[in-house]
Amino acid sequence: MAEAAALAELRGIESDNFSAYAEWVAAHAETHLPFVAEIDGYVIGVAWLHVAERVPGTNALDRRYGDVQSVEVREAYRDRGIGTALMAAILDEARARGLLFVTVHSGRRAVDFYLRNGFTHHRQLMLWEPA
Ligand SMILES: CC(C)(COP(=O)(O)OP(=O)(O)OC[C@H]1O[C@@H](n2cnc3c(N)ncnc32)[C@H](O)[C@@H]1OP(=O)(O)O)[C@@H](O)C(=O)NCCC(=O)NCCS
Repeated sequence: MAEAAALAELRGIESDNFSAYAEWVAAHAETHLPFVAEIDGYVIGVAWLHVAERVPGTNALDRRYGDVQSVEVREAYRDRGIGTALMAAILDEARARGLLFVTVHSGRRAVDFYLRNGFTHHRQLMLWEPA
């Protein structure tokens, strides 16, 4: 729970909401996996892997995939490979779990970061957003 509060603080969440955030993290522990970078116990970066299931296909019941979310490295610690290390850990986990693929909805300024870390633009992956 102490770590959940550190993750909330890193994301700029108000301290009044730390315990609600920690409860959410605990309730979603099976599906939303945090990867945390620390220096001497101080959290300097986090990236989340959401593991979700696709509807079974003809020959496969298990069709899990991943979605990368809430990637953040503290400003003072950027540009030294921490984000890259977090993404490498997430993609190792994706391989170990046999995920079909991993998606990411990138922030506007992080597109190149994901391109450098193994993601590609895919012509069949489509998005709808409300007007
Ligand atoms: C996007 C973000 C997570 C990247 O984290 P980071 O720790 O700075 O990432 P890296 O250090 O691995 O890579 C960033 C740069 O450092 C360079 N770098 C990587 N390893 C390095 C190393 N060992 N030494 C020096 N530079 C290095 C990379 O080449 C890259 O440089 P470039 O921008 O000139 O191409 C971080 O900028 C961030 O938190 N941004 C705000 C939140 C955000 O946009 N999140 C993503 C939303 S989906």
